Amino acid sequence: MKQPIIIDTDPGIDDAAAISIALNHPSFDLRMITTVNGNVGIEKTTANALKLKRFFSSDVPVHRGSSQPLISDIVDASAVHGESGMGGYDFPEINYNDLSSTHAVEAMRKELQTSDEPITLIPIGPLTNIALLLSTYPEVKDYIKEIVLMGGSASRGNVTPLAEFNIYCDPEAAQIVFNSGLPITMVGLDVARSSTLSHTAVNKLQTLNQTGDMLYQIFKHYKGDGLEKGINVYDAYTILYLLNSGKFNVQEADVQIETTGALTKGATVTDFNTHYPNCTVVMSVEPIEFEKMFFDVLKYCK
Ligand code: BDR
Ligand code: CA
Repeated sequence: MKQPIIIDTDPGIDDAAAISIALNHPSFDLRMITTVNGNVGIEKTTANALKLKRFFSSDVPVHRGSSQPLISDIVDASAVHGESGMGGYDFPEINYNDLSSTHAVEAMRKELQTSDEPITLIPIGPLTNIALLLSTYPEVKDYIKEIVLMGGSASRGNVTPLAEFNIYCDPEAAQIVFNSGLPITMVGLDVARSSTLSHTAVNKLQTLNQTGDMLYQIFKHYKGDGLEKGINVYDAYTILYLLNSGKFNVQEADVQIETTGALTKGATVTDFNTHYPNCTVVMSVEPIEFEKMFFDVLKYCK
């Protein structure tokens, strides 16, 4: 049976890889894509989600979400993902008729409450929409199977020495989500760093299929960390983990978010010694396994 999922995203070069797989893999029933301010502003992340919808001629609804964090000022990652957030490929023209008129939070509430089975949420951007959903409509928790999110780090950060970008962008939202009582899996920087996609593998994408070529072109515009080794396709690990959890090394932990520290804002303080874990932290995967999984799932794409 297909797994019902919702992707909440700020595309984003690595978001594009995650969305491509989620839209095409036969194991998933992607109910909607919701967009959030993050790598670039909400107009651009929404436009990028619409570009991917057009590229795949998909019927999956796209809903625009929050344009700013709950409290923090907006920070973006256009230095990493480029001005548009997903440049480098000549996508088909978007049509705003493809954008649903319902706000992301409202759309998620409705989908969850009318679903015949609990849905897995996959946030791969700042957690603003998800925090608003859980705090505005706590009753929807009964319809959420689990949250498998990209964000955080059990070691070092990428936007500051201790903070990962998605959590740094909206730490208050992250604190709400991690303490929601829902089953949370943190797919953070650790696992991606354990298995960076080599440049040789990236080059092979070009001839895989149309999607491989599209990803190859946008990966070439990525300015993220670890570039000397290859490309960290952070967001795609959430989807690969859902498909192959047995291949990943995980550890239970209590994860709390630093919201006030002058130097540590957005840090995911990860306590592996706790008796009260709130989260499964995905730590690592063999690089060779990761590469195989990544290429295998892309074969379902056009
Ligand atoms: C995360 O931040 C964004 O730049 C990426 O899309 C990913 O979700 C990595 O820190
Ligand atoms: Ca992202």
